[in-house]
Amino acid sequence: MSIWHQRWDENRIGFHRSLANPALTDHWSKLQLDSSAQVLVPLCGKSLDMHWLAQQGHFVNGVEFVEKAVKEFFEDWSKEPLKTSREFGEKFAGKNINLYLADFFKVEPDDAPFSAWYDRAALVALPPSLRTQYVEQLRKLTTADAKGLMVTFDYPKEEMQGPPFALSDEDVEHHFGPFFEIERLQFTDLTEEEDRELSRCSLSVFMLKRI
Ligand SMILES: C[S@@+](CC[C@H](N)C(=O)[O-])C[C@H]1O[C@@H](n2cnc3c(N)ncnc32)[C@H](O)[C@@H]1O
Repeated sequence: MSIWHQRWDENRIGFHRSLANPALTDHWSKLQLDSSAQVLVPLCGKSLDMHWLAQQGHFVNGVEFVEKAVKEFFEDWSKEPLKTSREFGEKFAGKNINLYLADFFKVEPDDAPFSAWYDRAALVALPPSLRTQYVEQLRKLTTADAKGLMVTFDYPKEEMQGPPFALSDEDVEHHFGPFFEIERLQFTDLTEEEDRELSRCSLSVFMLKRI
């Protein structure tokens, strides 16, 4: 059982928010996407951000490998999804939101490649050893002109064992620089607010465009 299955089992899901994330609502329009753009949400949990994206007119495709999270998303929405099996897992289809119950690294969504993606607490949830693979999979599942919004977290790596794992500016440049244009849209110092006793801690929001 992964740490994530264990966390969901024990309801230790402090990352889940009861409102759409301000990083999304404040910055999404800067991507200047047509509402017909389908959006990929890797490692989606049961995030309400997916409803916000759907309300903007997008068709949303989330990927999550814990069944409890997927089921609770539809229960909270009071929607009965249409469930179908795939080789890599299962598809739960709602009106304008499909959730794939699958490992992100193995998923092959029906409508991929997508022209947009939203990463909040996805890359930083993964151990650093999976970062190259994450970017590779993201490129595989998105179109050559895709744009995305990514919310990250940084702190001195030696002070805490993730998740969330610290993602420095150098890490962002190293992993995304060769394939994406990178623009930081927000930097917020969280050192005072965080209760994890980190000497420095910040949140950044990046706009990424495939090049
Ligand atoms: C920190 S949570 C963030 C969830 C969501 N993005 C949000 O903002 O609430 C990370 C999620 O990724 C899921 N996850 C971790 N590794 C995964 C993988 N390889 N494939 C699919 N989901 C994964 C976990 O179960 C967890 O729900």
